[in-house]
Amino acid sequence: MLQLSNITVSLQGSRILRGVNLTVPERSLVCLMGRNGVGKTTTLKSIVGLIKTDTGSVKLAGTELMGMAPDARARQGIGYVPQGRDIFPHLTVWENLKIGLVVHGVRNVEPVERVLELFPILKEFLQRKGGVLSGGQQQQLAMARALLTNPKILILDEPTEGIQPNIIDLIGDTLVKIKKEGKISILLVEQYLDFCLSVGDSFYIMDRGAVVAEGPIAHLNDDVVKKHLTV
Ligand SMILES: Nc1ncnc2c1ncn2[C@@H]1O[C@H](COP(=O)(O)OP(=O)(O)OP(=O)(O)O)[C@@H](O)[C@H]1O
Ligand SMILES: [Mg+2]
Repeated sequence: MLQLSNITVSLQGSRILRGVNLTVPERSLVCLMGRNGVGKTTTLKSIVGLIKTDTGSVKLAGTELMGMAPDARARQGIGYVPQGRDIFPHLTVWENLKIGLVVHGVRNVEPVERVLELFPILKEFLQRKGGVLSGGQQQQLAMARALLTNPKILILDEPTEGIQPNIIDLIGDTLVKIKKEGKISILLVEQYLDFCLSVGDSFYIMDRGAVVAEGPIAHLNDDVVKKHLTV
């Protein structure tokens, strides 16, 4: 579904990504892990088109995305939920969702109804301002907005960061549900190990700009964690 080959990125003269290779198969949820500052967000930004890459290829369902602007990549089927969520605090939940539709030229609201089924809390709060929602609710709003673009792959950057445990479970359940519906693959950057173990099918671990370990989630054992993830 999504295939990254040999992605290299330099920022302000230093090499941030050193040849990242990563594949997200169809109908699967892949966790991208690693300590702070190893290049996880930079990898996602290279996929979405928010950063200039030096070399490499990003293919989505066989189509090369390199050289395309972020909005063109979104139309190809990339749905992105950035780290820190990035919703509009002064717009209502409904307006935040509508922006997702407008950007993609969708006129009817049927997709909104469908996506809101996944997030009942948002349905209740449609007229509230985004800024007054809790962190977990904002995360759900950002996910809903990304889903409205009808993506082939949903890319999330640390969705559990700063969110209370019961909402983390809810978000995990929702991701698994989305994946099981079979139309959307998921790439998740995540530092919370238990979350990856409960929702992931496979994992990649990065260190200093490169992938240093990968495999099915069952192989993410104590040795691997100790070697690559504990600080
Ligand atoms: N605009 C920039 N200019 C220069 N260096 C940058 C820039 N953005 C990020 N970096 C550096 O690139 C490296 C990778 O950053 P990145 O944000 O991809 O890490 P990360 O794995 O997502 O970290 P975290 O877990 O803290 O979110 C870091 O060393 C960071 O300091
Ligand atoms: Mg990051």
